[in-house]
Amino acid sequence: MILKRPGEIDAMVDAARVNRAALEAVEAHLAPGVTTAELNDVAEDVILRSGGSPAFKGYRGFPATLCTSLNEVVVHGIPDDRPLQEGDTVSIDVGTFYKGYAADMAKTYAIGAIPDDVQRLLETTERSLYAGIERATPGNRLGDVSAAIQDVVEQEGFWVVREFVGHGIGRTFHEPPDVPNFGRAGTGPVLRPGLVLAIEPMVATSRTSVVVLDDGWTAPTETGVPSAHFEHTVAVTEDGPRILTAKETTSIGEGVAHGA
Ligand code: MF3
Ligand code: CO
Repeated sequence: MILKRPGEIDAMVDAARVNRAALEAVEAHLAPGVTTAELNDVAEDVILRSGGSPAFKGYRGFPATLCTSLNEVVVHGIPDDRPLQEGDTVSIDVGTFYKGYAADMAKTYAIGAIPDDVQRLLETTERSLYAGIERATPGNRLGDVSAAIQDVVEQEGFWVVREFVGHGIGRTFHEPPDVPNFGRAGTGPVLRPGLVLAIEPMVATSRTSVVVLDDGWTAPTETGVPSAHFEHTVAVTEDGPRILTAKETTSIGEGVAHGA
């Protein structure tokens, strides 16, 4: 595991700020009729104009700035000309390199009205992310983070995806350790100040495996059930978890509990 000095974590906040700006620009464009390719252009524009570069584009041949994963697609959907439709969910995952450091973030959005159980899936997945983040404190173990995520998900009767995991992040956007969204509390490596993790629960409404389509990327649930994905880049610090990709605010009480 690569531990970052405080100055490096500040540099990662700068990368995270650009990355977040890209996601917020995409968010402002979400509407029925908009294509995921158009959303990709919006994000890429923000990143390039901020002096950053898209982290995903070209990574092992991935062709785009965003992963846009619709409905039953868990992760790694490729932007294309399909317009968003009322009732869709879309996971927007974006990564940025800025001044030598990476940031990684994802959220799943509802386009218009969605079924109640899918709404609960989105809320639960985001809540599981924050439960995991809360455990990312020095002295805890990685399994504490994983188990906290899994507990929240399974209490709602949903299914934690096993095929993909979170990861360390820094000068490259995939570093050790892997961060599974399932596991046992009290196990795994001890978390130390300076460790930066991309924590990213991926959840389906019921038990399923996840497959990869012939394009080599798009990863839907095997049964076709809906899925959701939320991700933050989080530093373990002496003062507890610091969400580098969180909305920046000066107001009191807007910490881990509320997130962004
Ligand atoms: N957030 C995802 C990840 O960390 C996105 C990777 S997309 C890829 O693994 F194309 F770059 F692989
Ligand atoms: Co990631």
